Amino acid sequence: FDVVDLIRTKRDRGTLTTAQIDWMVDAYTRGYIADEQMSAMTMAIFLNGMEREEVSALTLAMVASGTRLDFSGLDKKTTDKHSTGGVGDKITLPLAPLVASFGVAVPQLSGRGLGHTGGTLDKLESIPGWRASITVDEMMRQLDDVGAVVCAAGSGLAPADGKLYSLRDITGTVECIPLIASSIMSKKIAEGTAALVLDVKFGSGAFLKDIEKSRELAQVMVRLGEDAGVATRAVLTNMNVPLGLAIGNANEVRESVEVLAGGGPADVVELTVELARHMLELAGVTDADVEAALQDGRAMDAWRGMIAAQGGDPDAPLPVAPESHTVHAETSGVLVEQEALPFGIAAWRLGAGRARKEDPVDHSAGIDLHAKPGDTVEAGQPLFTMLTSDAGRFARALEALEGAYRIGSAGDEVHTGGPLIA
Ligand code: URA
Repeated sequence: FDVVDLIRTKRDRGTLTTAQIDWMVDAYTRGYIADEQMSAMTMAIFLNGMEREEVSALTLAMVASGTRLDFSGLDKKTTDKHSTGGVGDKITLPLAPLVASFGVAVPQLSGRGLGHTGGTLDKLESIPGWRASITVDEMMRQLDDVGAVVCAAGSGLAPADGKLYSLRDITGTVECIPLIASSIMSKKIAEGTAALVLDVKFGSGAFLKDIEKSRELAQVMVRLGEDAGVATRAVLTNMNVPLGLAIGNANEVRESVEVLAGGGPADVVELTVELARHMLELAGVTDADVEAALQDGRAMDAWRGMIAAQGGDPDAPLPVAPESHTVHAETSGVLVEQEALPFGIAAWRLGAGRARKEDPVDHSAGIDLHAKPGDTVEAGQPLFTMLTSDAGRFARALEALEGAYRIGSAGDEVHTGGPLIA
């Protein structure tokens, strides 16, 4: 095939064959197709879309570009979840050990944050000693012993997606259903989990703002999973408002530990419990008392085992930001607005996220919220605290937060963008 012909086909709204897509993904992975050419292709896909068969072929070609893990030798059923990314979304941290405490295996290969969305590995790396990189043998042993693993996806897994995602990130072609669906599902299919629950976000802090687009993304991903033999379900959840009270890294670990200790913010607990039920059902555990495992210490025991197995000290103090700045309510009333995206951007500017892949993350940086939409506040009461190692970052963070929150009167409509689970 000639890549320029393939680009022309997609540019002119044609359909690529499975053989053409297989060839293209393989040639791009090997470096025979240039980034410029693939950029043109992804933009053509962004603008003109893909047929169902094309998305399926793209996904399977990306799976085939690397290795696929196999957990069939394990005595436990495997089940995993993936979130499309949000602000304050630390759910994997309490969820993986909670589900593992019911005797199933959670083999979660996770990513790092880029832009305003945080990354699970960055959060866990706040814990002294914890290692994101482990070998496949170590992973197997840990799944057998502890049941839950959250680790870095090695470069051997769907390498075509790694290359393509970096390219999309710098060419304005991320927010595209066929490309997002194939990207996420290629990694999850290659990961080898037998069951998968997708937490598909909609709203301000999500990749796709519109709930109907998120629904479509969910449907495409469920179909891709089922076609590849992975029992897949999706839940649509609200990302108009940050999840929980902590946005950052170390502070999100602290909040997750509160949930594992039977406390924590209601929205974080609600979503953790809902996703745990779905993951367990798909693994054949239908009568799990999920709340009880959070209350009686079973989930916490699994967390401690999971962290220690990867070199982390679950009792070590977490990094604390040397600089903090608290914003107080100027008037009394009701907090009617707290928009996820600007809070995500502000946390990122404080150092919780990275602008380029190579940048380090400030694990102590982020934002602690002291009130959530619907709460009554008094003038002078703290609304949120910004945390960082570099006080020079406060001004730019505050700029991002301009207009992002509002105190209204009792009776005003509270903007939450709907229920947490749609
Ligand atoms: N997450 C991914 O892994 N890929 C995308 O394309 C978007 C979000």
